[in-house]
Amino acid sequence: MIHIIPEPKSFFLQKGKGIFHFSADTALVNTALSQAAIEDFQKFLSQNFHFQLSKTAGDMQLSLTLTEEGNPEAYRMDISEKEISVTSAGEAGLFYALQTLKQILLSEGLEIPSLVIDDCPLYPYRGFMLDVGRYFYPVDEIKHFLDMMAVHKLNVFHWHLTEDQGWRVEIKKYPRLTEFGSKRSHTNFGHKPHGGFYTQDEVREVVAYAHSKYIKVIPEIDMPGHMQSAIACYPELSCFDRNLPVATHWGVKHDILCAGKESTYRFVCDVLDELIPLFPDGYFHIGGDEAVKMRWKLCPHCQAFLKEMGLKDEEELQQYFMSRVNRHLKEQGFTSMMWNWDSVEATEWLDRDIVWQMCGMPKNTQSEIMAGRRMVNSVSFPYYLDLPYGWFNLQKTYENTPEIPNIDETSAKNLLGLEAPLWTEYVPNMKKADYCTYPRLGAIAEIAWTAPANRSWEHFQQKLGDYYRLLSACGVKHPATLKQAMPGTLRAKGYSLWFNRRQLHWAGLHNLIDDAKVKRLASK
Ligand code: ACM
Ligand code: ZN
Repeated sequence: MIHIIPEPKSFFLQKGKGIFHFSADTALVNTALSQAAIEDFQKFLSQNFHFQLSKTAGDMQLSLTLTEEGNPEAYRMDISEKEISVTSAGEAGLFYALQTLKQILLSEGLEIPSLVIDDCPLYPYRGFMLDVGRYFYPVDEIKHFLDMMAVHKLNVFHWHLTEDQGWRVEIKKYPRLTEFGSKRSHTNFGHKPHGGFYTQDEVREVVAYAHSKYIKVIPEIDMPGHMQSAIACYPELSCFDRNLPVATHWGVKHDILCAGKESTYRFVCDVLDELIPLFPDGYFHIGGDEAVKMRWKLCPHCQAFLKEMGLKDEEELQQYFMSRVNRHLKEQGFTSMMWNWDSVEATEWLDRDIVWQMCGMPKNTQSEIMAGRRMVNSVSFPYYLDLPYGWFNLQKTYENTPEIPNIDETSAKNLLGLEAPLWTEYVPNMKKADYCTYPRLGAIAEIAWTAPANRSWEHFQQKLGDYYRLLSACGVKHPATLKQAMPGTLRAKGYSLWFNRRQLHWAGLHNLIDDAKVKRLASK
């Protein structure tokens, strides 16, 4: 049986029409696809079948041809005795056909029956996010994630570049951000120093690599919360000019960027202006999640600013903040994205053109999407890769389709797609990352790519054996086993307990003591 994940739109075996014998004698007739994309396929062939395609003409051929019109990610692959003919209106479509062909070769070997595949993605946005702020992942590991995204036909890499626990991207105007802000004195488990950052040249290298696999890169600078690493470098960014270390422990931090000082907006715009030329794909994520307003309520700068602007409260102040940053990005041709964490109730202060990445489905979801706001579904728990399989197992993720209920067809188009975030509070290395990401990413890729009518959990399960072989062929060493991804009741409880035990480290007591300190400071 041929097993492909994500399931193609249509797939017909042409019985009695012969077998294509795939070998080093197969000529590669390519007028369309880049050398880098071809090399990706050649590498797969040499690693798994110990040969590469070298001929450009011959009796047996694999031909890649661009057609005039259509969805550039869709493709048609027609396999007969003498030819594998691939056509698409875009290079991405041809590239995806080769990803499909990899899976056919793995499940059938080199003798491929005649068949026709017509394939087309359900959603234009199919994303994966990596949080490199909690733990740093070097360039080679990022490239491996990108390789795996391509195999899954995912096309957006969301690079969560800054966190309380580390600033990971070089900003020449503010060198302390990486000299100091990229290192924390110790991790909360293991108590080891940890650090790392990407130079701007490395960022360019990653973006170019992603583009060679038809993946867009969306950087995220998370603000106004999750900024303790920057505050540690430049205390004046915070409300009370606090001297804080780069965070060592998890949890929602109470010291965030001060929204009442012009100097904060200058810093933010300077940082964005340095990054903009590195990220040509037109989207910029500006965070917005878990920004507690505790300091803003006490801060004389924030309070004066709030009154001056005629804002009702600190929630509106954050909406003003996000919109101001959005406008700066828009002037340079960018679309902004933000988390809708805290179920933000959008007022006129929050620009409608900011795309919402949904971590929840608050009650204003329908009214916002019908009023024209674009969204990406990343709802927790189903799409949060870091959460234990005991909370949300593989089947539940698979069956949790991303569409927004109770909206009309036109508004449904404002849902761009879905994205699976890998938060790394508890993911210190590739071993754990593999465990969290696979096989869950297979399920997520399928619900992002394949229309519900063309897929089922039963069929998906049948494909998992070949899927694990694909993962192994692509160098994924530690995926969760099916037993781990579909835990029984007892095992599920065990995972949850383990995870919750770790949540206890959320530094609640430390925050309480710290809050009292700031209160005293404010009342002086
Ligand atoms: C989030 O889960 N912090 C968006
Ligand atoms: Zn302030």
